[in-house]
Amino acid sequence: MCGIVAYIGGKPARELLLEGLKRLEYRGYDSAGIAVINGGLQLSKTAGRVRVLEDQLGQDDRFDGTIGLAHTRWATHGEPSDRNAHPHEDDPELGHGIAIVHNGIIENHAALKTYLMDNGHVFASDTDTEVLAHLIGHFYEGDLEASVRQALREVTGAYAIAVVCAQEPDVLVVARKGSPLMIGVGSDEYIVASDASAIVAHTNQAIELDDDTIARLTTDSFRTSTLENVTITPQMRELEVDLEQIELGSYPHYMLKEIHEQPEAIRRCLKGRVSARDGSVVLGGLNEFARELGRTRRVVFLGQGTALHAGMIASYLVEGLAKIPSRADFASEFRYRNAIIEDGTVVVAISQSGETADTHAALREASRKGAMTLGLVNVVGSTITRESDAGVYLRVGPEIGVASTKAFLGQVTASVLLATWLGRRRFLSPMEASSMLETLNTVPTLISRVLDQSDQIAEVVGKYVQRDNWLFLGRGVNYPVAMEGALKLKEISYIHAEGMPAAEMKHGPIALIDKGMPVVVVATRSSQYEKVLSNIEEVRSRGGHVIAVATEGDDSIRNICEDVFFVPDVPEVLQPLLTVVPLQILAYHAAVMRGHDVDKPRNLAKSVTVE
Ligand code: F6R
Repeated sequence: MCGIVAYIGGKPARELLLEGLKRLEYRGYDSAGIAVINGGLQLSKTAGRVRVLEDQLGQDDRFDGTIGLAHTRWATHGEPSDRNAHPHEDDPELGHGIAIVHNGIIENHAALKTYLMDNGHVFASDTDTEVLAHLIGHFYEGDLEASVRQALREVTGAYAIAVVCAQEPDVLVVARKGSPLMIGVGSDEYIVASDASAIVAHTNQAIELDDDTIARLTTDSFRTSTLENVTITPQMRELEVDLEQIELGSYPHYMLKEIHEQPEAIRRCLKGRVSARDGSVVLGGLNEFARELGRTRRVVFLGQGTALHAGMIASYLVEGLAKIPSRADFASEFRYRNAIIEDGTVVVAISQSGETADTHAALREASRKGAMTLGLVNVVGSTITRESDAGVYLRVGPEIGVASTKAFLGQVTASVLLATWLGRRRFLSPMEASSMLETLNTVPTLISRVLDQSDQIAEVVGKYVQRDNWLFLGRGVNYPVAMEGALKLKEISYIHAEGMPAAEMKHGPIALIDKGMPVVVVATRSSQYEKVLSNIEEVRSRGGHVIAVATEGDDSIRNICEDVFFVPDVPEVLQPLLTVVPLQILAYHAAVMRGHDVDKPRNLAKSVTVE
């Protein structure tokens, strides 16, 4: 959500910043802008994508400096427009030439704006960020770092910022609180960015800034300190992302690439963690807390969107495999609901990015109330991983497509591992675990079999793509899969879709079904198979067209459905790892057929770092 990149060093900043923006564009794509210090502050910004900014800049030599910052925006305050695009300047009347890029929300911007206007400041945009720019300018007395520090002390909310000042052309100041920011460390150069994807082409050494920390960077020095100006020594770490992982390669879209990466992603997630022979699971991140976790009495999974759907599946798995009461909750609701945390409660935050503001805040709240906290997270070193007591990395590699696919499979796989790990400390026998884990090891190959049906799925989608309302139904562990199928379809194809437990349909939504309405039903062989067949009949008798996801070999289901996608037969607890795949492919094809930008769906951005 909003991408920031900043550079100080010996190279031309413009090319480096634009390249960084392109890599960060999945974080927001409403507008883009750049500021370079080169004989004064040079600034250019525009509504629209990074390529529009690139065209606008052309070869303008005013932007030939070696220090600068840039931004790609997902609008929070103020509509997407040229004037609301970042960077924002302080009051030009003051002549400092300060420019700032920001990700986050300044919550007390209205009060600060009033104060600044009373002091003669005139604003050029509707953004909270411009208020911060003016505040920094208001405090500026020849020391950029000091004025940033002073301004941030007045601010409530979340921010990751980068600031430059024409009067100090050799200094870049960056700071963060609650929004991600890392500093790539090269030789005599620093590349600051919201995430590693804008850094890895230049260096694999990086510093993850802590909350409430400021860094002052020059070409040959850096100092990090708290808001109270106490110097701190940050940890340098090696970035695990490599360039190839974040390149599109021969695929037309990241989403398709990531769907096809799923077999390999799950292999990586499982590697070294599963011993099928003795029915055990090794989760290194949990070792230290094994005794405490052995006393778990309740598990609460928290997440948003796709991650919450994985959490819903996880709660079925924990109850089924570990026999521990469990539920899943929207992190955003949990946080404000005054949830009761009893002794022995473990709260698990599920997140691809590890930066989702709602999930992070809920995790903090759970921890404050005394819960033990775990993170099932993909991005190494992200905020949630750093703030949870322990965790399990998903290891699925970087996910760039805004619609989450391989991370979902990683979240479900990690949940199977966690539930088995907990179960083996309780009632799950080695034999039961062993047979399930043996199948789990084959899941990557089985996913490939589902991927092979992509063309057939596209054909089916072609029949229904003009329909504006779809239903997705499932039961048990496949109910969250139905929710996920609906979410995928609506977020990238803008088709209205609802996912729900198949039985719930009768309690109202059935009124929506009219002749030819596509109803996707996960109808794999399971403990509730017969009930799902009855639900299919209910849909058909109202004229709905059923597209089933069924178990290979279940040829009779063809008699009661218009279309069927088959998935290999696996135990019920593992089914979501296969049943979701045709739904991801279905959504992808629907979006392409409708002519939408699959990787940059309207109004969305990867990693929602505001509440
Ligand atoms: C949907 C999607 C979102 C995310 C949600 C949580 O395709 O990607 O619903 O799942 O915003 O994001 P993370 O997993 O980064 O916490």
